[in-house]
Amino acid sequence: AAMHLPWIDAINRLKKQRGAVIMAHSYQSPEIFHGVADVTGDSLGLAQAAADCDADLIVVCGVHFMAESAKILAPHKTILIPSMEAGCSLASSITAEDVRALRARHPGVPVVSYANTSAAVKAESDAICTSANAVQIVESMQSSKVIFLPDQFLGRYVASQTDVELVLWDGRCEVHEKFTAQQARHARERFDARLVAHPECSPEVLAEVDFVGSTTAMGRWLEREKPARVALITECSMADNLRAQFPATEFVKPCQLCPHMQQITLPNIYAALRDLKHPVEVPADIGHRAGAALQRMLAIGR
Ligand code: 13P
Ligand code: SF4
Repeated sequence: AAMHLPWIDAINRLKKQRGAVIMAHSYQSPEIFHGVADVTGDSLGLAQAAADCDADLIVVCGVHFMAESAKILAPHKTILIPSMEAGCSLASSITAEDVRALRARHPGVPVVSYANTSAAVKAESDAICTSANAVQIVESMQSSKVIFLPDQFLGRYVASQTDVELVLWDGRCEVHEKFTAQQARHARERFDARLVAHPECSPEVLAEVDFVGSTTAMGRWLEREKPARVALITECSMADNLRAQFPATEFVKPCQLCPHMQQITLPNIYAALRDLKHPVEVPADIGHRAGAALQRMLAIGR
């Protein structure tokens, strides 16, 4: 950790000079999350914070769709992402054209897209949802059938919680799909741990756990339950970051890191502030339509 300190000092100095705000997703490494971030949260929390904060220069430490969502909600601000390599297997599983083809196949059926999609896909959608509000948003469409994109596992979980018929896509989170039911059982039996999983995990994993919830919902569950031991079946940095907040809880493995989140590093955050790179751009018409889908979600509740 000592090797991080010169970078953290340099970034925090340059950040002040530039009047910039650094935002970090919960899946960012602890030296970023605790060392340089002014705002932390889940993907939509960050986008809303970008729209609400006073700064005109914001560095989003997260993956590309998160920086895009910030730009959609704050179109007049400069939104930087430190690495253009920070993608997402869910966001890249579907294109705007795929959504148009689905609509043609299911005329009149509304489209709800997960936040983990490109701005172009959001623009083709009626409403956006997060893992925290997916059931609520699907039901708000007041249709007996809804096209739900692109995460098949999240879709199957939502389908288990509602009577609405869902048309699903075959997108997967390459991180959460790796967890197995056997790992979950092992954590429970070997470490006597309570189990919490993100709904991007497979149905077999979700069947094993005490609680299924989004990034933010997991934090609230920990506050409520205060377990002696817990296995967070989600991206591994989340447990690293929460450890400081819950000193009485022991966090046990399994661990999977998101390779895309790991593209963001202290050196490239520094370079982002120094060279003002890489500004995220969303074409005005796409931004406008994607913004309407996002606002529809925000009006219903996060
Ligand atoms: P959140 O929307 O909860 O921030 O999750 C984003 C993500 O990438 C989950 O894998
Ligand atoms: Fe995408 Fe999965 Fe990484 Fe989240 S953890 S950014 S859903 S690949």
